[in-house]
Amino acid sequence: MFDIRNLSKVYIMGDVPVKALDDVSFTIDTGDMACIMGKSGSGKSTLLRQLGLLDQPTSGEIYLDGQEVTKLAETARATLRLQHLGYVFQEYALLAELTAHENVYLPGMMLGGKDTDYKRKGKELLDLVGLGQRIHHYPRELSGGEQQRVAIARALINSPRVIFADEPCANLDTISSKRVMETLVSLNRDVKVTVLFVSHDPDDKKYARNVLIMSDGKIVDRVSNPNV
Ligand SMILES: Nc1ncnc2c1ncn2[C@@H]1O[C@H](COP(=O)(O)OP(=O)(O)OP(=O)(O)O)[C@@H](O)[C@H]1O
Ligand SMILES: [Mg+2]
Repeated sequence: MFDIRNLSKVYIMGDVPVKALDDVSFTIDTGDMACIMGKSGSGKSTLLRQLGLLDQPTSGEIYLDGQEVTKLAETARATLRLQHLGYVFQEYALLAELTAHENVYLPGMMLGGKDTDYKRKGKELLDLVGLGQRIHHYPRELSGGEQQRVAIARALINSPRVIFADEPCANLDTISSKRVMETLVSLNRDVKVTVLFVSHDPDDKKYARNVLIMSDGKIVDRVSNPNV
């Protein structure tokens, strides 16, 4: 699904260049459940943002299902993001004035589908993440873990090929974290969506089929976990 070749990202801070990604090459297979791990500042979020087309690398190429996507025009990248990529962020990023159901179907509405279709699908997805009883709740009426599962349902509304999750459990307690990770695992297994997540917690390795370890902007190790 992803073929990453010689990817680098350099931030210029004053006169000092920071090499957040340093000539990284690797592949991710379709259907993978992959985790990016490494110390704070090692470049995990930077890598995820480049793959999610939320940022432009300084050099290198990203092939998504054979298509080189780094040099596409911004409108083409925006369409790819909306149609094929889903995002889950640490801070949920739900709209406070919309209900859980409305938050979930909003990207479907933006894509211009039929309203009965995306509304029905929004309900089904909230059922799928175990929140069928919460569809009319506003974000402030939901726990952190529930809000994150709404965000996962939202990421799925346009049937993406891949979900990117940057430390989805960073703001959650242990029990909610487990529930969120198990939701991602079951989506990967049952809906067959490719999942790429970032975590600090070594314990989260158990959820990933492939673990990429980063240090100083490089991938320094890759561990497979065939039992997942
Ligand atoms: N917008 C930016 N401008 C300048 N430097 C940046 C920017 N974003 C990240 N960096 C730097 O790039 C490096 C990698 O940052 P990144 O956020 O990818 O790390 P991370 O592995 O996700 O860390 P954390 O675990 O703390 O989230 C860091 O040294 C950081 O200071
Ligand atoms: Mg980060």
